[in-house]
Amino acid sequence: PTRIFSGMQPTNGGLHIGNYSGAMLNWIELQNSIARNEAKIAKDGGGAGEDSSSSLLFSIVDLHSLTNKAVQPASLRKNTVDVAIEYVACGIDPDKVVLFNQSQVPAHCELSWILSCHTALGRLENMIQFKEKSKKNTDSAVQSTYGLLAYPILMAADILLYRATHVPVGEDQTQHVELTRKIAHAFNAHYKTDYFPLPQIVSTSESKRIMSLQNAASKMSKSDVSENSRINLTDSNETIAKKISKAATDSTIGITYDTVTRPNIANLLAIASAMMPSTQPLSPADIASQFTNAKHSEFKSFLTQTITNHLAPIREKIEYHQANPKYIKEILQKGSHRARSIANRNLTDIKNIIGLYE
Ligand code: TYM
Repeated sequence: PTRIFSGMQPTNGGLHIGNYSGAMLNWIELQNSIARNEAKIAKDGGGAGEDSSSSLLFSIVDLHSLTNKAVQPASLRKNTVDVAIEYVACGIDPDKVVLFNQSQVPAHCELSWILSCHTALGRLENMIQFKEKSKKNTDSAVQSTYGLLAYPILMAADILLYRATHVPVGEDQTQHVELTRKIAHAFNAHYKTDYFPLPQIVSTSESKRIMSLQNAASKMSKSDVSENSRINLTDSNETIAKKISKAATDSTIGITYDTVTRPNIANLLAIASAMMPSTQPLSPADIASQFTNAKHSEFKSFLTQTITNHLAPIREKIEYHQANPKYIKEILQKGSHRARSIANRNLTDIKNIIGLYE
């Protein structure tokens, strides 16, 4: 059976369009295609067997956020609810998925310890994210703690605890999912079991890696000091227009899609493509071909319009729920309850495999 797990950190404010196009669009797509499948199975009279709505789990991974010291208690609490609101505003349907925050399910930490005994230290020290974040001693927010080193093990625990088969994430998480497969394999081999499936990554095509609007050499990121480097889901139309007008381009005339020689333009085209209405899909190259001889500013007005059209209804839903977060808080509570029951059942199996006395 297909089981899907993914998560986002509630670090510093809400989600940006990199999170949205690199991961969220795929979450929605998977949610809807699984729902269609289940409906078909039910219609054909087949028993869906297990509770179908527990085959998709989307989490707000608040424990991972603790590796960032800039996250203050009050804002962590608020950001967690805000990210849940954003999931729902983007189209995540709490009736079709289990939506919860990680810290409400203690089994993540228990499994994390177990898996850490199957993970060679060198593998962790080799993680790109660890190398980048631990060398940035100038950035006092992220310190080279044991938590930062162990971060990918907790992520592996998130995924393996639910025996997930697919993990929809952006390209920057590829190495972490590969490590998860290695850890799962090591555990299975050691205990001569096939308990953990080796999870596969699911990623969007050109938008799996959205870069900074200021400089296509670095990825769009919540931790970038420049607000102009990213577009948040909550940005107003005016803010979006301003950020796009300031976005870096190049000195070549016209618009063409070339990720190697024109990375800034290619990034804007990838964003435009991801933001096209689903009824009117266009690849980055398709869009470029409509602006071959156009001025950069003409393409930028199209891009601004495309983004604002796409985000306006999402922003409205975010504002609605933020004014009235009771519904979302209930969703989180129910989701945590369901996640705990799956997690505890699986953890009992795992403890049995290992020989922990009950
Ligand atoms: P996080 O919170 O940094 O990002 C959430 C998701 O957004 C994707 N993403 C991007 N995609 C394209 N372009 C970008 N510029 C961009 N920036 C972020 C990320 O790839 C991710 O899919 N370690 C994870 C959270 C996590 C997790 C998990 C994910 C913890 N446990 C288990 C999957 C499964 C992270 O920091 O994502």
